[in-house]
This record gives sequence, structure tokens and C-alpha cells, in this order.
Amino acid sequence: MNPSRYTPRIRRGDLLAKVMPAADAARLFQPGMTVGMSGFTRAGDAKALPRALVERSRTEPLGLTLITGASLGNDSDGLMAEAGVLARRLPFQADAALRRKINTGEVMFIDQHLSDTAEQLRSGSLPAIDIAVIEAVAIRADGSIVPTMAVGNSASFVQHARAVVVELNLAAPLALEGLHDIYLPRARPERTPIPLTTPGQRIGGTAIAVDPARIAAIVVTDSPDSPSTVLPPDEGTAAIARHVVAFLEGEVAAGRMGPRLLPLQAGIGTIANAVLHGLAQSSFRGLTMYSEVLQDSAIALLDSGHLALASASSITLSADMHDRFVHNIERYRERIVLRPQEISNHPEIVRRLGIIGLNTALEFDIYGNVNSTHVGGTHMMNGIGGSGDFARNGELAIFVSKSDAKGGAISSVVPMVAHVDHTEHDVDVLVTEWGLADLRGLAPRERAPLIIERCAHPDYRAALHDYFGRALLRGGQTPHVLDEALAWHERYRNAGSMR
Ligand code: COA
Repeated sequence: MNPSRYTPRIRRGDLLAKVMPAADAARLFQPGMTVGMSGFTRAGDAKALPRALVERSRTEPLGLTLITGASLGNDSDGLMAEAGVLARRLPFQADAALRRKINTGEVMFIDQHLSDTAEQLRSGSLPAIDIAVIEAVAIRADGSIVPTMAVGNSASFVQHARAVVVELNLAAPLALEGLHDIYLPRARPERTPIPLTTPGQRIGGTAIAVDPARIAAIVVTDSPDSPSTVLPPDEGTAAIARHVVAFLEGEVAAGRMGPRLLPLQAGIGTIANAVLHGLAQSSFRGLTMYSEVLQDSAIALLDSGHLALASASSITLSADMHDRFVHNIERYRERIVLRPQEISNHPEIVRRLGIIGLNTALEFDIYGNVNSTHVGGTHMMNGIGGSGDFARNGELAIFVSKSDAKGGAISSVVPMVAHVDHTEHDVDVLVTEWGLADLRGLAPRERAPLIIERCAHPDYRAALHDYFGRALLRGGQTPHVLDEALAWHERYRNAGSMR
């Protein structure tokens, strides 16, 4: 590549000598190392290094421990898993091939709350980072690194790594510079309160500080982020959105929230994206988001004025929305802040701001326990992501799901979830296309009939009522027929349907 293309983005002459091909940078990696890579839900991930590591692993399997912000794009997770680059992966993934390797036990997966990883690196509970790989828009004269479409755990990786490899991505617009707000809490016991009291507030610098001597290599790329795979809203997700909007309007009417609500968080995936799209049909204006990922819906709401500003750790968009965003960054500059995921998901801040958390469940049970991660109770889907950070600490934990899956063979409302990510103590509201169950202030015996009537698919309601009725005969605070509680999952496994 002609150096004139990248020299303006490396604003420090002595670092130009560190520019090298990805294959040369890959030779810095040794088997068994712990590597921290930028990337959060397909945004801001290194593009060339993962592929160079795949090539390197063909002659010498690397078996790395790979820590990221969240999932990577460009099929990187799957390619690295299949080539033996990965032995251990955390804290989140969403790749079909890596998922298979996790579920066969070939890759060890540590499914973590996304706010936790940085804290565990700082305390030494996780292995020290040997090499950090960070995608950048530019390197400033002081050596500091300007991240691209995600911050994730990048600032923590740089802080703790012995060496840093920068992937300078020429496809990332320079106009992204200034969008980030990099603040890392101090180590304990000297920790002070995080000085953030409003969603849009800036409390740190706009780049990741690093001693330039620790930058071991610079690899230049020119590849866009992988587009989001989220599907557009359908009838079911639109119905879920209408229930959520009506519920929030009810909260305002009851005087529990003002007309601008409290800051919203929306999880990843098709359903959460569709629920946010539903706000465009509401009378709400000037809302705020304090979330971890901004999907297409958030940008659309910023454009329509329903949303006044949005804070997150990454921006993951479809190809069309990506173009709209990068060509109009100036319009969003004062209204979007990208933060480290430790701050976007921080329990202290989530509680202080009173976040309304909207996340998706795979299944929930008649008492309000939620499974977001384990298909059939055993097989990893993606991971808990930030849903626990928000559900446990926010003002309202709303979980949405379609009432059934796999053509109706699976009921998303079950007698007992086969894996618990969010316990009944953390869940306030459950929603499917059929309706909404507000569990606040209700005991388990009161929740069950409400959840069945409001949320379950009509085809499964009679069986759920029958189960609950027989469980009541056995008594208890949370009545169950234990030898039957997981029989629905077993029936699907053996007969291909819960019916
Ligand atoms: N049992 C088995 N499979 C189920 C299921 C159930 N109870 N419910 C849904 N599924 C399947 C769907 O059939 C679909 O499968 P497919 O990909 O083979 O078509 C898949 O799960 C995704 O479901 P979909 O309805 O498309 O929802 P989504 O895209 O909104 O994703 C989650 C839903 C739960 C997988 C996703 O939101 C997630 O990983 N959540 C956990 C992390 C999280 O909440 N993060 C929030 C902060 S970012």
C-alpha cells in the first residue's frame, strides 16, 4: 500500500517504522498467549490480524486465550476456532462455528457480564494480557489510539498488555475522532465514584493513552465492519413493541416516570431492535439511551427526534444505515458518546441513572426466571452479554421474547427454565407478542397465572395451567412438580416438540 494513504493517520514519525504486514505482526504471537482484541458486536474488530493468526496456526496451533469486548465480525471467531487459534474465549461470542466448538467442549468459553471483564483484568483474576490488538482510526502525536466504531474493553487491554498491535483501518472515517469518551476507574481500594450523572456526559479523554514504546506493530487495513445481521421487524416483534410502548405510556400516566422516561438500554438481536423501532410510532420525544450497543433503530430514532442522545460502547449497523451514519457523523457528534463497556454497563451508573433495560429471553418460566443463553438448558447460544448488568441494577428489567420458537415446537414459556441467567428477583416485566405481564409487587403464586394468560402461546396455555394447578397441590412459596418441571425440554429433545 502506498504510504501516503496512511502516514496522515500516524501522527508521530517514529512509529512509521513499525508499519508491517499482518503476517509479520502475527509472528509476535506465541502458543498459549492471552490476547485482548478490540471488537464489540461486529463493530471495531481487527480485520487482518485474525486472518493472519489463522494462517500462522496452520503450522503451529496457537491455542490462545482470546478476550474481546463482545462478538467479532468478519467470521473471525469461527475461522479462528476452526483453525485452532482459540483454546479459551471470553466474555461473549455470536458465531455459529465457534458456538459448535464451545458446545463440543473444544473451546472453553467463559460467559461473563460485560462490565466484569475489565474489573477482573485489573484485579489480576484473569491472566495478564500478552498482546492487545486494537483497531484504530488514527494514532495521535502522543501515541494515543483513536478507536473506531467500538470502545469495548480496548482501553483496559492497552492498559494491561505487555505489547500493543494497532490495526489502522483506513475505511474508518476520521470524523469518528472525538466521539469516544475514555474513562477507566482506578484500582481498588483507591477507587472514587465514577463522576457520571447524566447519559450524555463526557468524563474522560477522546483517545486511549499508551506509551508509544509499547506499540510493537502497526498493520494497515481498509475494510469496513461486517454489517449487522439483524432482521427487520415482523408482525410478532411489532406486537411486542406495541405492548412495551403502551406499558411505558402507562408508567408516565401513573406518574412513575416523566414524559422523557428514564434512559433506555436495548439488547442485541432482532427482537430488541424491533422494540426500539416501535418507539418511532409513539408520542415520546427527547428520550435518552444509556446502552451498550446502538443498532439501526437507535440511529433512526435520533433522526426522527424521538431520541435526543445515545451513549453506548459500540455502533453495529446494517450496510445502508452504516452509510447514512458515516456520511452524517457531524449531525450525531453532539448526540452520541462511545464509552468503555465497563462504563456503559457499570452497575453503579446503571443504578444511579435508573436504566430501563430491554433484553431478549430465549425462554422464561411461569415464576419469572429467565434463560437468555442456554438452548435446551445445555447448549450455549451467544452469552449473557450485558443483559445481567442492566437487569440486576436498573430501574426496570423488561424481557421480551416470541412466545414460541422452531415453528411452534418450542414454548418460550415453560414450567421451569432449564438454565437461569436472570432470577425472578431481577425480572420486572415479561412480554411476548400476546401481551405483557407486570410482575412488580407480585408473589410467585400470583405471577404464574398472569404470565401464562398474558405471555404464553394459546396452544400451550392449558398445559401450563394444568402444571401450575398440580404444583399448587404440593404447596410451597414457588410450587413445582419437580420430576416434571424440565420434562418439556426433554420432550422436545426426544420427540422434536414440547407439545
Ligand atoms: N429454545 C431454542 N431456541 C430458541 C428459543 C428457545 N426457547 N427461543 C428462540 N430460539 C432461537 C430462534 O429459533 C432463533 O434460531 P435461528 O437463529 O436458528 O433462527 C434464535 O434463537 C434467535 O432468536 P430470534 O427470535 O431471532 O431472536 P434474537 O435475534 O432477538 O436473539 C437471543 C435472541 C436471546 C439469542 C439474543 O438476544 C441474545 O443472545 N441475548 C443474550 C445476550 C443479551 O441479552 N445481551 C443484551 C445486551 S447486548
